[in-house]
Amino acid sequence: MNDSADARLPRRRFLELSAAAALAATSRTVLAAADTADSAGKAVPKTVCVLGASGEVGNAIVRALLDAGHRAVAVSRSVDKLAQIRATYRGTNRIETLQGDVGSDELAEVLRDSTVSRFGKPDAVVASLSAHEADVPMRILDTSTERLRRAFDTNFFTHVTAARALIPALAPGGVYVGINGGLADFVIPNRGQLSMTQSALRTLYAVLAQEAQDEKAQGLKAQVRLLGLYGLVATEEQRRQPNDGQIPDTQVGARVAQIIAQPQAFPGPVLALKAKRYS
Ligand SMILES: NC(=O)c1ccc[n+]([C@@H]2O[C@H](COP(=O)([O-])OP(=O)(O)OC[C@H]3O[C@@H](n4cnc5c(N)ncnc54)[C@H](OP(=O)(O)O)[C@@H]3O)[C@@H](O)[C@H]2O)c1
Repeated sequence: MNDSADARLPRRRFLELSAAAALAATSRTVLAAADTADSAGKAVPKTVCVLGASGEVGNAIVRALLDAGHRAVAVSRSVDKLAQIRATYRGTNRIETLQGDVGSDELAEVLRDSTVSRFGKPDAVVASLSAHEADVPMRILDTSTERLRRAFDTNFFTHVTAARALIPALAPGGVYVGINGGLADFVIPNRGQLSMTQSALRTLYAVLAQEAQDEKAQGLKAQVRLLGLYGLVATEEQRRQPNDGQIPDTQVGARVAQIIAQPQAFPGPVLALKAKRYS
């Protein structure tokens, strides 16, 4: 995350409120954060492409995948962020970086082609995508339709675009994991746009899971999951002050590695990882 400390406070407060409201959410497949076993991802090494690798959640996922012995292909639009990722993981030769954008079908197809030509068909793709522009107070009745549409562009349509390009490019039986928040079943004042995009994401991934297995998928048999995170995702620094409303980023990364290693153990397609306080 690259937002300023001033901007982060309201966002984190908002996420705490979100997690509290999650208590009232419709029951889904829920796997408490405390259940995470960090060894389950250490199976057969795979090539995993991570969209949003420069982000708070994506970075934790890259780290967990490397820890589990996989080759991680970190994707970012920014060459500077990719250089930072390479510097962070310079101790391993299993980190790869790739500049890419899923802001349009054309750009996503470029990303798909360069992924496959450089690394072969990935065994898994993780889409941990969002934009800070969409995570600001927005009262819908005072917001232009165009502004709301932009929130869908960054937080929903990036997932559509990425999935259209990359699910068909997966190795047979590959795994595609999207990351979501926990706001689909309720609304927080002035953050309705996030409930809407997250709710739409849940339906999108249910559809993708079905279509990835249908007759037109031509034997691809990809496994599609959406992991909703209920609570703040705490980085190493934030973990120093224990807070049961947070999910340690290490648990998020470990859970994604487990899903990739054993998708059948997480049938979904909609999954949740909740902070202890909200489990
Ligand atoms: N952080 C939390 O506490 C928290 C809590 C609950 C749920 N979540 C969920 O976790 C997910 C990720 O959140 P985050 O906090 O990690 O966000 P973040 O730090 O803002 O990272 C988002 C990532 O999305 C990438 N991205 C955005 N648009 C893109 C595009 N057109 N093409 C390629 N990449 C694009 C950005 O990559 P580049 O800028 O490098 O290209 C960035 O790395 C979201 O679904 C969020 O709802 C987060």
